[in-house]
Amino acid sequence: MAPDGFLNGLAPDQLAKLKRLTDTFTEEEAQAFAAQVKWASQARQKQKAPEGDWSVWCILAGRGWGKTRTGAQDIVGYAMANPEARCGVVAPTQGDLRRVCFEGPSGLLNCVPKGCLWQGEGSAYNRTAMELRLWNGSVIQGYAAIEPDRLRGPQFHRVWADELAAWRYPDAYDQMMFGLRLGDKPQLIITTTPRPTEIILNLFKRDGVDVHLTQGNTFENDANLAESALKQLRERYAGTRLGRQELYAELLQDIEGALWSYGFLERSRIQKDSLPELERIVVAIDPAVTASEDSDETGIIVAGKGFDNRYYVVDDCSVRMSPDGWGRLAIDMFYKYQADRIVAEVNNGGDLVEGLLRNIDNTVPYTPVRASRGKLVRAEPIAALYEQGKVSHVGMFKELEDQLCSYSPTSKKSPDRLDALVWALTELSQSSGKAYWRIS
Ligand SMILES: Nc1ncnc2c1ncn2[C@@H]1O[C@H](COP(=O)(O)OP(=O)(O)OP(=O)(O)O)[C@@H](O)[C@H]1O
Ligand SMILES: [Mg+2]
Repeated sequence: MAPDGFLNGLAPDQLAKLKRLTDTFTEEEAQAFAAQVKWASQARQKQKAPEGDWSVWCILAGRGWGKTRTGAQDIVGYAMANPEARCGVVAPTQGDLRRVCFEGPSGLLNCVPKGCLWQGEGSAYNRTAMELRLWNGSVIQGYAAIEPDRLRGPQFHRVWADELAAWRYPDAYDQMMFGLRLGDKPQLIITTTPRPTEIILNLFKRDGVDVHLTQGNTFENDANLAESALKQLRERYAGTRLGRQELYAELLQDIEGALWSYGFLERSRIQKDSLPELERIVVAIDPAVTASEDSDETGIIVAGKGFDNRYYVVDDCSVRMSPDGWGRLAIDMFYKYQADRIVAEVNNGGDLVEGLLRNIDNTVPYTPVRASRGKLVRAEPIAALYEQGKVSHVGMFKELEDQLCSYSPTSKKSPDRLDALVWALTELSQSSGKAYWRIS
């Protein structure tokens, strides 16, 4: 029996027909059906799974377009309609998986009617295992793309990949595709803000072959976005190069005038297990001295120089934190990567950085650097190293790479991750390796 009210607004003959149909439903089936009817009436046309014989439905859309909601509704709809279905959900990190894909306002738990959850032994939602079970035996299992090894083994009927363009390791995509092999027609739903990674460019080319491409901009969903959220997005991106990607979902190739290009970064990228032995490793900090909601980020980049005379960007741990918070994080990274030294820009608050690090750990070798030359003058030789193919990113660093590829001589904003990267590679490429001084 269908829940009251959900068929409101239908013509009497349609209503009678549906009532007859839904009267044969179990309680769970009726709730599942009602939820699907409700989403079908709310969803914009582009948010509905397309007809046709596709294997990949790839949604490249702007921030706030409704990407996550579309992916979650699709997977939940499939799991409810197909008993014993095995569904996968992959998000960039464990945090994204839980906070966005499962528990977020647009996430899976908000799309499944309570009555359709598993009621038997054990819990319906296991947040340690990231597993959601439905009454009909279907299971939705979550994976973080930052751990590609966990995707080795499991098999799926259907998978939803959220923010694919921000996944650190392309290996996760390969493993996921390998597991997508149950049933007659396994299908993949991708929901992401686009970036010109190799995987996305390849999907783009396959549009109309086995891929169905859907593109959309942020403002198509303005009816469902809070005015404050729209205002924030406009302030951050309006008139910027990055806005064309983040709001209008343009697949930007190389941005005119930018010092870095996505092409260079993509071509020289390597996987974690191909990282050669490193001769020297530094942790570079571009500090934000104040800490409040809208203060700058502190750029923290870990990079090394290999015995092969090439440079490797190993991690980007930039954060918005109090000075004590980022100080501790930088020192943790120093030990985690067994680095040789910490390099920090000391223009704004030089004494602070020294005192701060000394306070936390006075054995860490430290080099203060001062920005006497302009930012562009410092950045150009580093961009040239990339151009010569001498720098590899170990995995993908979305925010850092967006900063690099949208930075041009006329940019006004000070990109913190870019600054920290420039300090790290300057130190590695110029220094003899001797300490200027050691905190002790
Ligand atoms: N068709 C719709 N009807 C009603 N609400 C919708 C619809 N589509 C999306 N929403 C709502 O709009 C908001 C933004 O959606 P969502 O979080 O899915 O966007 P997103 O594109 O994933 O955003 P982000 O770029 O931040 O990841 C959510 O509250 C979501 O529930
Ligand atoms: Mg989202």
